[in-house]
Amino acid sequence: MRPKAQPGSRVEWEGRLRSESPLKIMVTAHGRASGTYTKIKASMMENAKLSLDGQEYDLPVVTGTEGERGIDITSLRGESGAITLDSGYGNTGSCQSSICFINGEQGILRYRGFPIEQLAENASFAEVCYLLIYGELPTADQLKAFSGGLTNHSMIHEDMKKFFEGYPASAHPMAVLSSMIASLATYYPKLEGDEDEDLNFIRVLAKAKTIAAWAYKKSIGQPLVYPLNHLSYCGNFLNMMFSVPTEDYQASPVVENALNVLLILHADHEQNCSTSTVRMVASSQANIFASLSAGICALWGPLHGGANQKVLEMLEMIRADGADYKKYVNLAKDRDSEFRLMGFGHRVYKNFDPRATILRKACDEVLEELGVDDPLLDIAKQLEDVALNDDYFIERKLYPNVDFYSGVLYRAMGIPTNMFTVMFALGRLPGWISHLKELRDDPGSRINRPRQVYTGATQRDYVPLDQR
Ligand code: CMC
Repeated sequence: MRPKAQPGSRVEWEGRLRSESPLKIMVTAHGRASGTYTKIKASMMENAKLSLDGQEYDLPVVTGTEGERGIDITSLRGESGAITLDSGYGNTGSCQSSICFINGEQGILRYRGFPIEQLAENASFAEVCYLLIYGELPTADQLKAFSGGLTNHSMIHEDMKKFFEGYPASAHPMAVLSSMIASLATYYPKLEGDEDEDLNFIRVLAKAKTIAAWAYKKSIGQPLVYPLNHLSYCGNFLNMMFSVPTEDYQASPVVENALNVLLILHADHEQNCSTSTVRMVASSQANIFASLSAGICALWGPLHGGANQKVLEMLEMIRADGADYKKYVNLAKDRDSEFRLMGFGHRVYKNFDPRATILRKACDEVLEELGVDDPLLDIAKQLEDVALNDDYFIERKLYPNVDFYSGVLYRAMGIPTNMFTVMFALGRLPGWISHLKELRDDPGSRINRPRQVYTGATQRDYVPLDQR
């Protein structure tokens, strides 16, 4: 049940959310016109003043647990008639969230408070999924039950095999993945109730890896390989990707471990384009499969998750062009050229991307252990060195991001280039799910519906066809 509140009043709400633990939420109502609810997860001790048309408006300042400040403009339009304008949302907080913390200036990334470096070093992907979705590291029993779920639900309905036959062999696996995830809603239409929601989280995490591997198998004309319950999440995926019925296959522990790290590094990144998309779609109370499928589509773009594929294609292009990397650095700086150094730059990280730091080291270790000597890694390092010492990149704070090294690593693991963004999606699924759950569990969440400043024609009269 939602709390009832009058604007300006403070309400306490006690209830049981879909997770197992009872929860107490303090609610303050803001906004005279809307009467919307905002969970107090951050403190409000000060006000900001906005002056417009000679009138002053007091706007509460919300401070998060890491000291980040946001000016709460919930009541702004109701009081002043004005809205804020922030193209690309670089200055706009769309929600309060307790899942992921990033400090872009200091290169900090934490999931539920735990530094990414510690998780990448010590945790399993299943543990991180649980942590993100339920807020705490699992106990041994919780992890056993959760991992068991990820194993037991990894088969997909036999009828769905027919879908794979319908796609052309050249189909991009991201198109297949997003369609298949949306299609799961046709098999699991009972979307209400506590048990179903948690079960659907497990289902989608478990089945996505099967769908991803099958999309690849279909594209190369090999028989689909069923999941095996005795394998780990990563081992199972590698087995479905690379084993064939004619011979034994044992995933290399080096590759399995590298995959575990890659998935953990991609697991969440607060309100990025795809996560915001998932929240946007979920805010209309669309089902989990539809919401996640939309996130996969948003991730596909080359400025987001699609960048890892583009990085590899760029490195291959540079190698084919005589490995003249300086030429491409210059091209990226040229205002008349549309070329960008893929894998460089980030909206939030303005110092270094901690995920890239972990991956750069992992690249060296994994390639050495696998005995892979990849000239693309050399080109990547040279590009990095040149760019990091170049004024253009220094002034704009453009550093290698997570996608810069992940492609080289995937390549060494035998993952084909067009599967790179699918790998990103598999990693990001728990992040999307945790944001969707957070939004659903928030009694104050409303349908997301931004405003605009209209710049089109003012009213004019219709002109009949023969007079135009
Ligand atoms: N190469 C050359 N110049 C660049 C690059 C680049 N990769 N990225 C940004 N710039 C320049 C840009 O031209 C602009 O210059 P100026 O101020 O002279 O006009 C300035 O840097 C700021 O760029 P922006 O496009 O306003 O920055 P943004 O925050 O809107 O975009 C970005 C961030 C990641 C989309 C962008 O840096 C980019 O396109 N990078 C390449 C694609 C990429 O690697 N994407 C993966 C991001 S990490 C994975 C993920 O989380 O999705």
